[in-house]
Formats: sequence, C-alpha cells, structure tokens
Amino acid sequence: MKILITGGAGYIGSHTIIEIIQNTNWEIISIDNYSNSSEEAYDRIEKITGKRVKYYNVDLKNLLATEKVFNENPDIKGIIHFAAFKAVGESVEQPLMYYDNNLNSLSNILKCQAKYDVPNIIFSSSCSVYGNVEELPVTENSKLRKSESPYAYTKQIGEVMVDNFIKVNEELKAISLRYFNPVGAHISGLNGESSTTKPNNLVPFITQTAIGKLEKLTVFGNDYDTKDGTCVRDYIHVSDIANAHVLALKYLIDGVVEKKHDIINLGTGVGVTVIEAINAFEKVSGEKLNYEIGNRREGDIAAIYANNDKAKETLAWESKYNLDDMMLSAWKWEKYQEENKF
Ligand code: UD1
Repeated sequence: MKILITGGAGYIGSHTIIEIIQNTNWEIISIDNYSNSSEEAYDRIEKITGKRVKYYNVDLKNLLATEKVFNENPDIKGIIHFAAFKAVGESVEQPLMYYDNNLNSLSNILKCQAKYDVPNIIFSSSCSVYGNVEELPVTENSKLRKSESPYAYTKQIGEVMVDNFIKVNEELKAISLRYFNPVGAHISGLNGESSTTKPNNLVPFITQTAIGKLEKLTVFGNDYDTKDGTCVRDYIHVSDIANAHVLALKYLIDGVVEKKHDIINLGTGVGVTVIEAINAFEKVSGEKLNYEIGNRREGDIAAIYANNDKAKETLAWESKYNLDDMMLSAWKWEKYQEENKF
C-alpha cells in the first residue's frame, strides 16, 4: 500500500517515516522542497531502519509538479501532510510567506487527493489553534479563540479547508492532529530536528546552549500565574507523535470512522514549566545549563496542556516517553551532530 508523506525530510515527517517502516509494510513516497530540512534526513532514516525511501524534490505550491508525483505513483491510499512553515515569530514578521506557503500547499494537496482518488488524509494541525485558552486541559471541543499569530491562523484555516473539502467529497476521509509541543529526537540519537534556520523552540535552545553553540538561554518570564512563575506547556516526544500518525492512518484505512473529518489532540496531558524542563535536562545530561530569567516573550500564553482522552480512546494511542526521555534523546542528538560536524 502506497502512502505519500509531504515534508518527509522534516522533523516530524522523518520520525514518522521511521515509525511507518518499523511498524507496517506500507510503501513510502516522500515529497519535500528542503526549505527547512535537507536530503540527508533520508540517509539518517536509512541508517536507523536499513531502508531507503523513494523521494521527490517538489514544491507543493507548484500544482503541476505535485500532480506529476501522483501520476507517477498511481493508487496512493493515504497522504500525511506535514509540509508547512512553523515558526511563530517568523510568521508575525512575514505573514504573506506563511499564508502563501501553508495554504497553497494544502490546497494543491487536496486537489490532488480528489483528482487521484486518494481516500485518506492526515493534516498536521497545532494546539496554537486554541489561541489564548481559559480552561485547562483543552479538549477538542474547547472553543477556538482568536489566533495569536499568522502561523496559528494558517492552522485554523487549514482545518476549515479540510473540513469543507471532505464534506463535499463523499468517498474521502480526514483527521486533523493538533500537536502540543513536539520535542526530543529518535531514541537512538541518530535523527532529530535539523532545521536550517536558527532554533526558536525551547529544547533546541537548551541543547545548543549546553553544547556551546549558543551562549545562554533566556527564560521568558517568571511572573506568570503558574507553580514556579514560568510558562507551562505539554511537551511530547516526537516518536510518540509519529506513532500516532501510523495509528490515525490505520484507523482511517480500516474504514469504521465516526466522522469523515475528525480532530484529535496529541499531547501527554502533563503540564511542565520551563524551569522543570531545564531541571530535567540538567539531571539526565549531567550538564549545568547557563540560563537567566528574562522578560516575557510577546504572544506567549501562560499555560496550555491537553486532554488526550480522545487519542487514547479513538486511536488506542499511549505516549511511551516521559520528559527525561525527551531531554536525553535531544541531548544525544545534539552531541551526535557535534561529533559528526553537521
Ligand atoms: C509554539 C506554538 C505551537 C507550535 C510551536 C512551533 C503556541 C501556543 N504554540 O509553541 O503550536 O507548534 O510554537 O514552533 O503558539 N521559552 C523560553 N526561552 C526560549 C524559548 C522558549 O523560556 O529561548 C519558553 C517559552 O516562553 C514557552 C516554552 O519555552 O513557554 C516553549 O516555547 P516554544 O518551544 O517556543 O514553543 P511554544 O511557543 O509553546
């Protein structure tokens, strides 16, 4: 069975390909344009799994080039659509780049899904669609508030696009997965986030500070109304996120779905403060982290974590990795990159 992965060289895409190879006999076709990744991801996947996947260098904004992949690979049974820009701050500075990339790519993928009769699609969404939440934990039925960034808005619109599209295409089904904070690296330490741009997320910032690539970490505010004053997030290991995609696609393929387009949170359900994350890193790595308390970051919300009952009930999914595993794997990956000079 053929499965198309967009953004397959990216952070979550590459870990999902590993999970698919190790748990199914699906044949993978990957598309990426390496705007924030590189072809080397496929070498790392091969090193971990022993398998080389088929891949294309295609920009999904180019409909003709995208269609060519579908023409060359008839009978695709499912699409996992990861490819998108994801840096919140960058999206505030360059909003049109985000609308242009994230929405046109999705539109083209949906056009191809209909034209080439691909019955199933998984859409990468984000907890940022909830905006500034008031009630915790958030469930899939929590009200979506105003988006805090163009990035978050592309995910709100993306979910609506998928919904509208699935409604008028009788035979097609979809799941939007709302990721909380994916972190960590493959447990082997041989694959992880390999952005070509400067990190803007907490865990790469921690590991790059510890290894000496960055001078120090600034904790963005310790005057929030949380247990130690720093922001609370729901960090989830990237391989747990990856595994949920395999289960979600199997669920769609098996055909007994309650809704033609369903929405599912992916988080561990555990709220962790920035200081707790730093403490976990120091404990598992044995490194002392150079950090200071700074001002709040604009657009940050005080706390968000998931109610993940639906993922457990619908997909029979459970997270396998805890905060220590997340930090240790991220640290292994950082050291691996240092040793191998990439
Ligand atoms: C945001 C989005 C999330 C998206 C992710 C992708 C929201 C609510 N969440 O996550 O949906 O998938 O970006 O990039 O919009 N921090 C520091 N110092 C640092 C970096 C971060 O203290 O140098 C703190 C932040 O204040 C925050 C936590 O660490 O409390 C996590 O930050 P980050 O990793 O950037 O993720 P979010 O902003 O939660």
